[in-house]
Amino acid sequence: GVSEMRLKVNGTVRTIQAEPRVSLLDALREQLDLTGSKKGCDHGQCGACTVLVDGRSVNSCLTLAVMVQGKEITTVEGLAKGEELHPLQQAFIEHDGFQCGYCTPGQLMSGVACLKGGHAKTDADIREWMSGNLCRCGAYPNIVAAIRQVEK
Ligand code: FES
Repeated sequence: GVSEMRLKVNGTVRTIQAEPRVSLLDALREQLDLTGSKKGCDHGQCGACTVLVDGRSVNSCLTLAVMVQGKEITTVEGLAKGEELHPLQQAFIEHDGFQCGYCTPGQLMSGVACLKGGHAKTDADIREWMSGNLCRCGAYPNIVAAIRQVEK
């Protein structure tokens, strides 16, 4: 049956009514109107749904909302501070890190985790870290360049 869950998203605790099996991705998109996180495959294959949970990147399509109650969830909507873009968002603009943009929220969240975790020391490290985030447009070199710029 449906039960109450409390999710802390982008610094605000929000209450939803949902079935225990609801994924974090569906909770974000359908209950909290946070549609920045994208549903590409819904099976952990594409990375479009990537969010941060306590600073670590996860595929929100594979994460049960009920399991992340009490944790800090950050979505792409939480990256900018008011009008000020996150440095990685700015770098994506400067380096053309997107074309169609569908994968971009997930790329950004994985990129933030890459930088925070110290995995952006070399292009090879960045490519390895980002390998779970697919981009159909093939913007990979530009995404790597954007992450590298912020690492400097
Ligand atoms: Fe979650 Fe593709 S939608 S990995």
